[in-house]
Amino acid sequence: MAWDFEAIAKQIDEEIKTVSDSKSLEFFRIKYLGKKGLIAEMYSALSSLSAEEKPTVGKNANILKNRVTQLIEDKNQEIAGLQRNQSSKDSLDITMPGVATPIGHQHVLTQTMDEICSLFEKLGFVVQEGPEIESEFNNFTALNIPIDHPSRDAFDTFYLEEHDPHKNDRYLLLRSHTSPGQIRIMQEHKPPLAVVIPGKVYRPDAVDASHSFMFHQIEGLLVDEDVKFSDLKGLLTVFCKKFFNEKIKMRFRPHFFPFTEPSAEVDISCYKCAGKGCSVCGRKGWLEIMGCGMVNPKVFDAVGYPKGKYTGLAFGMGVERIAMLKYGIPDIRIFFENDVRFLRQF
Ligand code: DAH
Repeated sequence: MAWDFEAIAKQIDEEIKTVSDSKSLEFFRIKYLGKKGLIAEMYSALSSLSAEEKPTVGKNANILKNRVTQLIEDKNQEIAGLQRNQSSKDSLDITMPGVATPIGHQHVLTQTMDEICSLFEKLGFVVQEGPEIESEFNNFTALNIPIDHPSRDAFDTFYLEEHDPHKNDRYLLLRSHTSPGQIRIMQEHKPPLAVVIPGKVYRPDAVDASHSFMFHQIEGLLVDEDVKFSDLKGLLTVFCKKFFNEKIKMRFRPHFFPFTEPSAEVDISCYKCAGKGCSVCGRKGWLEIMGCGMVNPKVFDAVGYPKGKYTGLAFGMGVERIAMLKYGIPDIRIFFENDVRFLRQF
């Protein structure tokens, strides 16, 4: 029998291209390399061939056998690769790096409150929290803000039930400042005492870039037998230099608060322009950061401390305002929008 080896080689090349799985590859193998396959047929024909034909047919049969063997081996690897890819899609590939779970962190306001409180803790103060729902007595009356006093207007307040302004001390409210915390502390403890009271406060203000109906304050109170205004100045100066920077200047401006006498507002020289005047400080060179004063003796009366025995200093600051100044944040609303692109920066 005469074979057209060239045509067979071509046919084999074409045929292997159509093989796509191990089953059809096995058919292919049997067809060419099987016991009754084409190559076997060629070998068994050798004995009946003439002496001239024998070497040519033998040689070509060997070439074909090697070629088919090689093609089968290549195809086997190709199919195994495909199977590997497929199965790794369905199952876990432990050689891949893991997907890290993002870890959250504290809100910038919490960080700021913690930082302020821990500075005062280092100065010997104790951190104490009070309730957000307060009595009218603690929020106003005991702090020398009587019912008909115009300063109540400065603390517009959310009352928990309809408020009759002629019935004093009857109502519960959302505290409008952290100062009622002073009353609670003094009712429970005798001097000497030094506390800071951080927390949320509420006022029915229209929301804009510098107002929010809820914000945070930190109140400070120190009471003993011989506390002086110079102690207040010294304490707040140390705090501001540590919190902002050592170079800032301080200014105590006379002011009025019903619960302190005398009272002052504290300004620091602008951290941005160092007092020259810029857009952050409104060209004034100064930034107002808190209220303070010497505890009004009427407040000591309200908590039942003996007359004339104690003096005290008090101060209160807005946490949002301080964080806005420290980090150059232009709008209070950003704190509460929970945009992680903002929050991640702190
Ligand atoms: N309670 C005041 C406010 O909300 C802040 C304040 C001023 C607190 C003077 C004080 C103080 O303790 O002495 O505006």
